[in-house]
Amino acid sequence: MIDIQLIAQACVTRVKLGQSLKTVFPQELGKIESKADQAAVKNTVYGALRYLGYLEFALDQLVIKRPNGLVNLLLVGMYLIEFTRSADHAVVNASVSAAKQLGFKKLSGLVNGVLRNYLRQREDIRAVAAKDDEASLQHQAWWIDKLRYDHPDYAAEIFAASLKHPNLALRVNTRRISLEQYLKTLEQQQMGWWRPDNIVADAALILDEPVSVHKIPGFFDGLVSVQDVGAQTTASRLDLQPGLKVLDACSAPGGKACHILELEDVHLTALDKDPTRLLRVEENLSRLDLSATTQVADASNIHSWWDAEPYDRILLDVPCSASGVVRRHPDVKWLRREKDIDSFVRQQRALLISTWKVLAKGGKLLYTTCSIFPEENEKQVEWFLNEHLNAKIDSEYAAHNGHLIFPNNSHDGFFHALFDKI
Ligand SMILES: C[S@@+](CC[C@H](N)C(=O)[O-])C[C@H]1O[C@@H](n2cnc3c(N)ncnc32)[C@H](O)[C@@H]1O
Repeated sequence: MIDIQLIAQACVTRVKLGQSLKTVFPQELGKIESKADQAAVKNTVYGALRYLGYLEFALDQLVIKRPNGLVNLLLVGMYLIEFTRSADHAVVNASVSAAKQLGFKKLSGLVNGVLRNYLRQREDIRAVAAKDDEASLQHQAWWIDKLRYDHPDYAAEIFAASLKHPNLALRVNTRRISLEQYLKTLEQQQMGWWRPDNIVADAALILDEPVSVHKIPGFFDGLVSVQDVGAQTTASRLDLQPGLKVLDACSAPGGKACHILELEDVHLTALDKDPTRLLRVEENLSRLDLSATTQVADASNIHSWWDAEPYDRILLDVPCSASGVVRRHPDVKWLRREKDIDSFVRQQRALLISTWKVLAKGGKLLYTTCSIFPEENEKQVEWFLNEHLNAKIDSEYAAHNGHLIFPNNSHDGFFHALFDKI
């Protein structure tokens, strides 16, 4: 417990200093040997970040001056007390020991006092917190204002969904096994599953209990991949046909690239500008026994990688604010600054401009984000159509698909727009 709280508070501290959990976890979890303890740290950090708005607010009700160096230990302790089944006294004792280990021997009494006061006063604190936006909706003030302005009818639902534990969704590799056969395998192993009925993803299923990939039947044999159900609706929107030349311009870690190849015999080029992330694409291709040309490249600089042969289909899954996936990545809602949106918009435009040049006439480009901010979605589409007279929104697509899907309990939020080159 002490180690878990110590490492968890270190992770929360680093996120509050601006580092992403993608960087923090590999470094911090390496300090613990036991897989179970690693999982406990992860759950604690995800949980504390999910409810950070409330926890920060509650701490301010309990102390006049925040104790330097101990704030995040207290927040983690309060999280464990308020939102988990951990025994209160065990959390308090472990927090006191952790404070000592951090070198705050003299202040360990203060840790004990603050947490005990929280236990005594929490009903009152909850009541006051319910009237405070950041404490009750668990987002930064600018984000709350923005969602209420951008999506007035859905904001409450989006905030509620962001606090849910993300599920573990699988995509069955139908080249290797049918969905029905795979479901039988799960039943034989007594693993529960369900299929979301509110979204069309043919080979998707959700496990009742999230488990590590080592426990997913057939994962290492390439029978299934882990992929959010929302993301599983992307590849089939590309109107794939055998033999087409397809570009996945921002492909890592390769979820959608592999899905494209599972669906159709196409010639796929998978780019990513991050060499380490591109290795993940290669691992996934090899695990699933699929083949593609992979290349480390900045897709917005076509002179550095394009062989002058136009593509029939392009998937442009751009870097974005990730505002649609905060239940899966709760660090995002604290790391983002409002001004970051402009920088994503600029990157997305550069990628749209360049990849449009390598698309064949009559070809299709699918632009997609995991954002729910209009600047990265509808407004980008409007800008793109204004700037490119040879682009139109695919009519088949426009008639049958909603472009923006909000996150809910069964899938993340995402946006798609399919352009035809005329
Ligand atoms: C949203 S992720 C892609 C997820 C991927 N399509 C999947 O389904 O697994 C965006 C990716 O774009 C890459 N990226 C960002 N800017 C890029 C650029 N200019 N050229 C190529 N890749 C880029 C990032 O490294 C990141 O891996």
